[in-house]
Parts: sequence; C-alpha cells; structure tokens
Amino acid sequence: MNSTDIISVIVLVGLFWIYRHLESIKQFINEQFYDDDPALGVNSSGCRDIAQVLRENDKNYLVLFGSQTGTAEDYAKKFGKELTARFQLRVMVADLENYDFESLNELPDNMPVTFVISTYGEGDFPDGSVNFEQFLNELEEGDDSLGNLRFSIFGLGNTTYEFFDGAARKALDKLQNAGANLIGKLGEGDDGAGTTDEDYMTWKEETIDLLQKELGLHEDENKEYQPSFIFTQMNEITDKTSLGEPSKQYLPSETLQYDVDGKQRGPFDLNQPFVAPIVESHELFQSPERNCIHTEFDISGSEITYETGDHLAIWPSNSNETVAQFLKVFQLNPDEIFDLKAKDTTMKLPFLSPTTIGAVVRYYLEITGPISRQSLGLLVNYAPVTIKEHVTRLSKDKELFAAELLKPKYNLADALLKLNQGEPWKNVPWLLLIEMLPKLLPRYYSISSSSLSEPQTIHATSIVENTANEITGINTTGVTTNLLRNISLSRTNDKFSEIEAMPVHYDLNGPRNLFADSRLPIHVRHSTFRLPKSSNVPIIMIGPGTGVAPFRGFIRERCAQVNKENVDVKTLGKMILFYGSRDNNDYLYKDEWIEYGKILEDKFEIDVALSRVQEQKIYVQHRIMDRKSEITDLLNKGAHIYVCGDAGRMAKDVQGSIVQILSESKSITETEAQEIVKAMKVAGKYQEDIW
Ligand SMILES: Cc1cc2nc3c(=O)[nH]c(=O)nc-3n(C[C@H](O)[C@H](O)[C@H](O)COP(=O)(O)OP(=O)(O)OC[C@H]3O[C@@H](n4cnc5c(N)ncnc54)[C@H](O)[C@@H]3O)c2cc1C
Ligand SMILES: NC(=O)c1ccc[n+]([C@@H]2O[C@H](COP(=O)([O-])OP(=O)(O)OC[C@H]3O[C@@H](n4cnc5c(N)ncnc54)[C@H](OP(=O)(O)O)[C@@H]3O)[C@@H](O)[C@H]2O)c1
Ligand SMILES: Cc1cc2nc3c(=O)[nH]c(=O)nc-3n(C[C@H](O)[C@H](O)[C@H](O)COP(=O)(O)O)c2cc1C
Ligand SMILES: *[C@@H]1O[C@H](CO)[C@@H](O)[C@H](O)[C@H]1NC(C)=O
Ligand SMILES: *[C@@H]1O[C@H](CO)[C@@H](O)[C@H](O)[C@H]1NC(C)=O
Ligand SMILES: *[C@@H]1O[C@H](CO)[C@@H](O)[C@H](O)[C@H]1NC(C)=O
Ligand SMILES: *[C@@H]1O[C@H](CO)[C@@H](O)[C@H](O)[C@H]1NC(C)=O
Ligand SMILES: *[C@@H]1O[C@H](CO)[C@@H](O)[C@H](O)[C@H]1NC(C)=O
Repeated sequence: MNSTDIISVIVLVGLFWIYRHLESIKQFINEQFYDDDPALGVNSSGCRDIAQVLRENDKNYLVLFGSQTGTAEDYAKKFGKELTARFQLRVMVADLENYDFESLNELPDNMPVTFVISTYGEGDFPDGSVNFEQFLNELEEGDDSLGNLRFSIFGLGNTTYEFFDGAARKALDKLQNAGANLIGKLGEGDDGAGTTDEDYMTWKEETIDLLQKELGLHEDENKEYQPSFIFTQMNEITDKTSLGEPSKQYLPSETLQYDVDGKQRGPFDLNQPFVAPIVESHELFQSPERNCIHTEFDISGSEITYETGDHLAIWPSNSNETVAQFLKVFQLNPDEIFDLKAKDTTMKLPFLSPTTIGAVVRYYLEITGPISRQSLGLLVNYAPVTIKEHVTRLSKDKELFAAELLKPKYNLADALLKLNQGEPWKNVPWLLLIEMLPKLLPRYYSISSSSLSEPQTIHATSIVENTANEITGINTTGVTTNLLRNISLSRTNDKFSEIEAMPVHYDLNGPRNLFADSRLPIHVRHSTFRLPKSSNVPIIMIGPGTGVAPFRGFIRERCAQVNKENVDVKTLGKMILFYGSRDNNDYLYKDEWIEYGKILEDKFEIDVALSRVQEQKIYVQHRIMDRKSEITDLLNKGAHIYVCGDAGRMAKDVQGSIVQILSESKSITETEAQEIVKAMKVAGKYQEDIW
C-alpha cells in the first residue's frame, strides 16, 4: 500500500463512521443549534437573504406574512399547509420581519410568492414589517426590477377603519409598479363585516386554481395529513420542561438577567414578557350586569419604561372550564409530556418544548373564540362516522355553518361536542390541533396612567367581556378580562358570593407558581398616541366607555406637570374631556375627575353624556355639537383632537360631528371639511386610539 491508498482507506473508514452515525450527528447539531431556542430554527444560520435560505432548504414555494396580532400569520400557515398537503409543494412560511428582500427577483426556480399582510394603526404595516415596507419604498417605479417575481396577495383589515387594508394595497401597488406579476386578484379579509374567514376561503380557492394551472400542479388523491413536527413522548418533567412559562427565560434551567440596579433586563416584547406584580385591582362599576376592572402593575423590578398614551400587553391563560372542555372533546391527557421538533429548519416551533399537553392547552393555544369553517374542514376526515356527512356539509355550506355554529357562538370544543351529542372526537391528531389553532396572544390595553405621575406603575382599565347567550344559556366570555376579574375577586376575600358567580375560573398560580400572589406577564407596546409637545396647546379628548382610559393618563400627566414640575396652571391650554356612559353606575373614575379639577382649575373640564337616563340617547357627539362655537374657537387656537374607544360607530360618528362643525364654521362643503380632518390626522393633530 502506498501513502495515497492509506489516506483513501482512512477517508473511507471515516466516511463510513459518519454514515453510521449520521442520525446522532444530526441530532447533535440540532441540539447544539436549535434545541434550546425554538426561534433559532427560523433562519438557516441567521442568514437574512431570502433566496439563499430557500435554496439552502430546498424549497419551491414561499409564503410571507406580516402580522401584528397573529391573524395574518395564521392564514399564511394555513395556506402553506394546504399547498403542502394537496400538491406536495415544499413550502416555506416566514415572517417578513426575519428576512431581507434584495434577492426577491432571483428566487430559485422562479418560485411564486404569496403575501399575507394585515393593516394596523392608520393604514400602516404591522410593526415587524417595517423593513419590508422600506424595501418597497426603495423600489424604483416602472424599472422592472421585480420582473421575474410572480406573486399572490391576501390583505387583512377591518372596513370600520378609514384606511382599509392599507398595507396590502400599498404592497400590491409597489410590487406591480416594479414589474412583478400578480397571480389572481388581491384578496381582502374584512373583520369589520366579520367575513375574514369567508373572504380568505374565496380568495384561496381562486388562487389555488390559478396556481394549479400556472405551475402544472397535480393534486394528490391520497392526501393524508402530514405533520410539520415530530412528536416524541417524554417520561419525566425536567427543569427544561415548560409547564406554560411565557418565555424561555422563565424556565428553571435558565437564569434571568439583571442590570446593576437589580432590575430584570429586557427587551420585553412578544418574545419575552415581564412577570409583573399586581399591586392594586378593583371593580370600577356599581352595575349588577357588567364589570370593569382597574388593575395596577408594578414595573419597578424591570427595565420597562413607558410613555403616557402607550399600550399595555397582558398575557392571558385559558380558564379551567375551557381547558377541561377542550381536553374532553379530544380525549387528551394533560399530564402527557412531549417534545416537539420541526421537520425542517424553516419551521418555527409554536411554543417552548419539551412541555405538557395541559400546559399547551392552558397557556399556548387560543382555544376559545368562534370556530372557523376552514378549521372544521380540516377535521372532516376525523369526524365520527355517524356525523361525517353532516360535518362535511357544514364545512362546505357557509350559510348552514353560520346558522348552526356561529350564531350560538360555539368555540371549537363546544361545536364539536354539540355535533357529536356530547361525545368526544377521538381520532383528531394532537399535532393537527397544534398546527391548526392560533397561538394564545396577549391582549392590548390603552394605559390609563401617566409615566410622569407614576413612572413605576402601569394602570389598565378593562371592561369584562361576559355576555348572556340566549341560545346555549352559557355566557360568552373573554379570556383575559375574566382572568383580570378573577384576580381582582381573589384579592378581596369577603366577596365569596361573587366568586361563586364567576362564569369561568382560572389557575391563578401559573406554571411553577410563577404567577402566584397576583402576578401576570406583561409588556409595553409603544404607540403614537401622544399629548402635544407643549402643554399650552388646548386639547379636545373624546372617550366614551373604556375609551376614557388614555385620557385619565393624559390628565394625570398634566396634574403631575403642575405638582411635580411646577408648571403654572395659568399657562396650560384648555383640556375638555367628552365622556359618555350608560348611567351613573358605569361612570368611570367619577370621583377622580373632581380631584383633577382642583389641581387644574378651570383649565380642565369634563362634559358627560349619560345615554340611558332619559328617553332620548345622548352621546358624546351630541355634547360636541351643543358646544360647536367653543370647539371652533379651540380649533382656531390650534387645539389637538383625540378620540379613543369603539372604532365601530363611535369614532365615525364623532368624526362626522367634527366635520360638520368645520364645514359650518368655515362655510365649506363637507368634502372639504373631510380633507381638513385628513390633513389634521396626517399632521398628528387628530389622533385616534380605537379598537
Ligand atoms: C390598541 C388596543 C387598545 C385597547 N384598549 C383597551 C382598553 O383600554 N380597555 C379595554 O377594556 N379593552 C381594550 N382593548 C380591547 C382588548 O385588547 C381586548 O380585545 C378585550 O379586553 C377582550 O379581551 P378578552 O381576552 O377578554 O376577550 P377574547 O377572549 O379575546 O374574546 C373577544 C370577544 O369575543 C367573544 N367571544 C369569545 N368566544 C366567542 C365565540 N365562540 N363566538 C363568538 N364570540 C366569542 C368574547 O365574549 C369577547 O367579547 C384594546 C384593544 C386594542 C387593539
Ligand atoms: N361593535 C359595537 O357596536 C360596539 C359598540 C360599543 C362598544 N363596543 C365594544 O364593547 C366593549 C365595551 O365598550 P365600552 O364599555 O367601552 O362602552 P359602553 O359602556 O358600551 O358604551 C359607552 C357609552 O357609549 C355610548 N355609545 C354607544 N354607541 C355610541 C356611538 N355610536 N357613539 C357614541 N357613543 C356611543 C353608549 O351608549 P348606549 O350603550 O346607551 O347606546 C354608552 O353611553 C368595547 O370593547 C368596545 O369596543 C362595541
Ligand atoms: C389598533 C388597530 C388598528 C387597526 N387599523 C386598521 C386599519 O387602519 N385598516 C384596516 O384595514 N384594518 C385595521 N385594523 C384591523 C386589522 O388589520 C385586522 O383585525 C387584522 O385581521 C389583524 O391581523 P393580524 O392579527 O395579523 O395583525 C386594525 C386593528 C387594530 C386592532
Ligand atoms: C434570524 O437571524 C438574524 C440574524 O442573525 C437574527 O437577528 C434573528 O433573530 C433570527 N431570527 C429568528 C426569528 O431567529
Ligand atoms: C351572564 O351575562 C349577563 C350579562 O349579559 C350577566 O348579567 C350575568 O351575570 C352573567 N352570568 C354569569 C354567570 O356571569
Ligand atoms: C379566583 O381566585 C381564587 C384564588 O385563587 C380562587 O380560590 C377562586 O376559585 C377563583 N374564583 C374565580 C371566580 O375564578
Ligand atoms: C382551576 O385549575 C387549577 C389547576 O388545575 C386548580 O388548582 C384550581 O383549583 C382550579 N380552580 C377552580 C376554581 O376550579
Ligand atoms: C372591526 O372593528 C369593529 C369596530 O371596532 C369592531 O367592533 C370589531 O370587533 C372589529 N373586528 C374584529 C374581529 O376585530
């Protein structure tokens, strides 16, 4: 043997060894790089070049989403899943946030792209999609720089907002102007009409038909559900096992990071909340039917800061009742421990893993909310034989579906139990449920405190969603707000009769007692809802119901300016607050306004419209019209207008009355007055915080 032969033998032996140990090597690599951090699985080695990542992962279809609260993400995943299941496409579903798009015109094999984008703020892109928006803005118009790109697009929005589907419409425009080729039509899901699901179904069917033709796809007859994850049963709970911790940092295997002052390090956002102690919590209404909870979170143990006008995100968990119902219908064992691995690195794990089924159902999945027809469609194959035909019909007939399942406000578990006469659906794969259901996401609240007055506490004012349901006799309840109410009741021991009356109950201790002693995970989302820079600019605030929340913050801010910063009250601009409630029992913070008035003297005024204490409804906009000459005066002095609360009718009606006042006082048409309001909005002089 000469030396080359020896080297060859060594290499061969080496290769054979690698071959024999391939699985363990893969596993080792996975553990090193992916195991600890599910988020890391998203991009191959942190690469942001979209074409390269697709090439490296051997994909042939791309779905990109921009989402604020997860709806767009959810539809993007459903779309990707359907392409995979029906046509065996190798789909990558990714958040616009995680990639750069300079190579969008050079995708491997000229693969088509589907965009699913929601709109936030006032016709804006979701927070995470700013990089994509910037990319779009930098495209040269008419230069054909995206001439190779074929795409389809579905936008999500709510027609009650002025700039409906603003982000997707803008994306469509910019992409087409740069020469990209649209497949099918822009789909638009409208939350306002409550038709998002149906709008998606219609768009999806048309688009998939066209894609089939364009790509010559053949549908696989034997389309069985192919999970995107690998499930491994585990035997014991270790300190790496999540029991529902809101993020990895809270696992016992990790250590929380603190700064020199002993404050917990952020950033605190959708990836990591701060588990904040609730230092005050009480009922604000004196009404027998409705509840509104005032909650104060102490953020002094963290690096969190906020500004008056920001939003607080509160991370909820599901109630005992809804968890039990869900476990029952699918015959799940909450104590089962399992680990989840993505089949390929472009798939992100939906939650921390290893974990337990019970933790996932209580803390990680959105299991309430109306059942969707799309979801029912996915479950048809697993329906008990006796009802399969009926379930199939329901999943295809939208009127029947609406009448039978939406109208009674069933959630998924309720609906399935109802369809099967209270008997379980035993065959639904757990992994399908994980992939099908949205993540349980935090809810936002307009902060009702002032960062100047109380920098270390954040106040939230939340109306409890608990409405009677004539059809089922079981109240329809909101996840977060009933949790806040339970915490409030649990702090006042003498109210046992009321505790009995709660429609749902929660595990207030949380995973490994993390939430014991009234704690909840929170983070702050910065908004653009801001007082004028100068305190002498007059402000007109309009906030009926819980819409008053940020204005309590505004007024407390002005009080603190007087008390803490020695601002002379006489220099302050006029502050009028138009507030509305049903009667005196739901008049929020009634006594506080008197105290603020003592500090702010004649500069502050609250004008109250009680709607139900007389025959005729009196709303904030009626009070505004009654004082039109004063409003005109203030507007002439440069007053800013702020509107907060219900986006449905209130914000529109209020805008209508402002338009009318402008048109009368300036002797211009209503259309011209509309234009003034639009310009005020662009200039930040007419701000809305509506939901
Ligand atoms: C920017 C912003 C600011 C906000 N500020 C405030 C604020 O200051 N104060 C405030 O109170 N709210 C505010 N909200 C609303 C808040 O975020 C929540 O949406 C609200 O509190 C309900 O949350 P929940 O978890 O209790 O209800 P969810 O569980 O999210 O339920 C939402 C609604 O759906 C209903 N529902 C549940 N299941 C079904 C079903 N199967 N079929 C049909 N309907 C069903 C519930 O009864 C409820 O009314 C704000 C929202 C945004 C976006
Ligand atoms: N989708 C809707 O139609 C709608 C409407 C209101 C609130 N909401 C939602 O319900 C939840 C609870 O609301 P809330 O407690 O803040 O409000 P709320 O207590 O229900 O209402 C506050 C006050 O606003 C009045 N109001 C009703 N319609 C109005 C309109 N078009 N313009 C001006 N004022 C109007 C109410 O009068 P009356 O109740 O006596 O009419 C009441 O006096 C919130 O999440 C809110 O977004 C939805
Ligand atoms: C605070 C807020 C602002 C919104 N602004 C708009 C808007 O300007 N135009 C619009 O069409 N939809 C608007 N919407 C509706 C959302 O786009 C719609 O609910 C969508 O389904 C959310 O998708 P996401 O969960 O993926 O973010 C807004 C929703 C909220 C909560
Ligand atoms: C992807 O890679 C980038 C760059 O390394 C990193 O900042 C980002 O956090 C990664 N994304 C995710 C979601 O892991
Ligand atoms: C059900 O909702 C109604 C209001 O719609 C309320 O009066 C009643 O107390 C609620 N019942 C329970 C058990 O919470
Ligand atoms: C609320 O919390 C208390 C304390 O943990 C608990 O004992 C009670 O059963 C809960 N009640 C409700 C109303 O959920
Ligand atoms: C809710 O569930 C938790 C966890 O299983 C349990 O400790 C608690 O007692 C339950 N609360 C009620 C009121 O049923
Ligand atoms: C759409 O906006 C209206 C007005 O705020 C609101 O009542 C409705 O709940 C919104 N739809 C959804 C599903 O967010």
